[in-house]
Amino acid sequence: MTYKCGIIGVSGGRANGHADAYAHIHRGALACIATRNRANLDAFGERWNVDARYTDYREMFEREKPDLVHVNTPPDVRLEVMQAADAAGIGALIIEKPLAIQAEDYLAIRDFASRAKVKVAINHQLQFHPRRQQLQNLVADGAIGAVRLIDASARMNMAYQGTHALQSIAGFYPQGRPASIFAQVSGASGLIQGRKQHFAPDATMAAIRCSDGASAFLRCGLNAPYVLAGDERTNVHKRIAVYGTDGYVHWTMWGWETSIRGRREHGSHNYPDEDILGQAAMTEAAFDWLEDDGKCHPLNLDAALLDFHILLKVYMSGLHRRAETLTSELQPGLIGALRQELEDE
Ligand SMILES: NC(=O)c1ccc[n+]([C@@H]2O[C@H](COP(=O)([O-])OP(=O)(O)OC[C@H]3O[C@@H](n4cnc5c(N)ncnc54)[C@H](OP(=O)(O)O)[C@@H]3O)[C@@H](O)[C@H]2O)c1
Repeated sequence: MTYKCGIIGVSGGRANGHADAYAHIHRGALACIATRNRANLDAFGERWNVDARYTDYREMFEREKPDLVHVNTPPDVRLEVMQAADAAGIGALIIEKPLAIQAEDYLAIRDFASRAKVKVAINHQLQFHPRRQQLQNLVADGAIGAVRLIDASARMNMAYQGTHALQSIAGFYPQGRPASIFAQVSGASGLIQGRKQHFAPDATMAAIRCSDGASAFLRCGLNAPYVLAGDERTNVHKRIAVYGTDGYVHWTMWGWETSIRGRREHGSHNYPDEDILGQAAMTEAAFDWLEDDGKCHPLNLDAALLDFHILLKVYMSGLHRRAETLTSELQPGLIGALRQELEDE
C-alpha cells in the first residue's frame, strides 16, 4: 500500500527536509501540500513535483483525505491543525517541534490528546538516526550496565534544538521517571516576540533526578559545550552521553564513541546523511502505527507531553530557584514571567 502524504507550511526552509526524505520512504508518497502564500506554494510544488496545492489546509484535508500529514506551522498554530485533522478523520500527523511553548498550550493539547482519534507523533527524527538507533539499542540491551548519568546538550535554546536534547534523554532511557527537577535559566533575547514564536531563555541548565537514582543533566543554549571545536555556528553541537555501571556511549552530530568494560570504539558520521534516513524511518514508523494500534510510535504525543511537562518545570525551577516535581501546579503566563525576570538581570 502507498500512503497518501501531505505537508502543511511549505513557505519556510524545513518543509524541504520533509519532502527530500520521501526518496527513502517506501510505503508513502508526497501527494498534497498547503501553505497560505500562493507563490511559495507553487514554487515548492514545482520543486518537489506536487500538483495538489492548497492555500487552506482544511480544504486539503477535505478534498485529498491524506493518510499522513507533516505539520510545519509555528508552535501557536499546532493545536488548531490537530483539531481540524481529527475532525476531518486524518489518520496520522507528524508535528514539528517544539510541541508547545508554555502551560496554557500544554494543558490545551493534553486535553485534546485525551479525546483525539488522530495519531500524532512529534518530529524528533534523531531518535531514528541509524547511529542513534545502534547506540540506543546498546543501552536498551544492557551493554553499559545500569544507567547512572545522562548528559545531553545543544547550543540552540530549548525551543529550537533544545527539545531534541530533552527528547534524547527519554530516547536512551525511556524508563526514567523524574522525581526532582532543579534548573537555572538566563538571557531574555529568545523570549522576545518573533515571527517563529519559538520562545525560550538563551541558556538553560537542568539536573533531573529520577526515582531509580539515575540522573540527567541538560544544557541548552549558549552555556552548552561545543562538539566541533572553534565552530561558532549554534546548530552543529547537539550531543548526548549515557554513562552506566559498565561503560558509556557518546553520540554527537558528527561522531560516536563507546567504552564498554574497558574496550573503547569510536567513529564518525555525517549529520545530514543520518538525518534524512532518520526522517524517513520516523515516517515509516508512523505507517506501522497506522496499520497496527499496538505499534505505538515512540515519538507519540503522550511521550512529548511528558517531556514538555518536564520542560515547564525546568522553567519554573529556574524562575523560582527551587526544585520542582511533576506533581506541583503549573504556572500560567510562564514566558511573560521569565521575560520580566530575565530582562531585569
Ligand atoms: N526537526 C528538525 O530537525 C527541525 C529542523 C528545522 C526546523 N524545525 C521546525 O520546523 C518548524 C518549521 O520551520 P521553518 O523554518 O520552516 O519555519 P517558518 O519559516 O516559520 O515556517 C512556518 C510555516 O508555517 C506556515 N504558517 C505560519 N502561520 C500559519 C498559519 N496561521 N496557518 C497556516 N500556516 C501557517 C508558513 O507558511 P505560510 O505563511 O505560507 O502559511 C510557513 O511555511 C519549526 O517549528 C522549526 O522549529 C525542525
